[in-house]
Amino acid sequence: MNPAQPTPHHVAIVMDGNGRWATRRFLPRVAGHKAGVDTLRRCVRSCAQRGVAVLTVFAFSSENWTRPQDEVSGLMELLGMALAREVPQLLKDGVRLRFVGERAGLSDSVRQGLERGEQATAANTGLQLNVCFNYGGRWDIAQAARRLVAEGKPITEANLDRALALSHVPDPDLVIRTGGEQRISNFLLWQAAYSELYFSDTLWPDFDDAALDLAFAAFAQRERRFGKTSAQVAGKAARPQPA
Ligand code: FPP
Repeated sequence: MNPAQPTPHHVAIVMDGNGRWATRRFLPRVAGHKAGVDTLRRCVRSCAQRGVAVLTVFAFSSENWTRPQDEVSGLMELLGMALAREVPQLLKDGVRLRFVGERAGLSDSVRQGLERGEQATAANTGLQLNVCFNYGGRWDIAQAARRLVAEGKPITEANLDRALALSHVPDPDLVIRTGGEQRISNFLLWQAAYSELYFSDTLWPDFDDAALDLAFAAFAQRERRFGKTSAQVAGKAARPQPA
């Protein structure tokens, strides 16, 4: 039998399905993103209660700029509003907030909002919340490689690992994608090499504690081998191979 996995230390989530959630209710897509912020607030709490140490969420991808202009500006506005409303509570709850992604393409006001949120929670020692914003896994690998070249360091796995935008946390144990699609969509391409993947049909605004618990229960059943054999993981000698 597989040894049960404990609660994942680092959970990463592709919060997909906001648009469909809104469309089914004859609402504008941005209403789905607003409902998504409410789900994210609950999810942060629930993860902290369950002993998760790091939560990383995909809020705006490098590719999301190609969405209709009103949706892009709606998401930017929502970020500002969410920061103003949520940071005081995150501060009280001991959550440390960090934004991960390219800042160069963002407006001054969005950039300042991100920096203020990070500074306000910098001394917190509870759950670490990484919000990937204007982020793409390929961007991250490329920026890390550029940084190493500029510093004259060799491109090794260890050096790249240290130069990546999520170098302050261990790799995710569990990557959840809601909304029924089964793909990675340029999220944590490097860091998810050995993550357990879990796909839920639930649209992100409906992803409640019961849905989160189902994901954790599935994770608990997985055997993580990291390239080893099952026998090695179980601490038994591997069966001798025929000559
Ligand atoms: C994907 O759903 C979701 C996004 C692109 C945005 C995710 C953002 C949030 C949950 C809110 C948090 C955001 C901020 C700004 C703090 P989709 O729009 O692709 O849904 P669909 O697949 O149903 O169209």
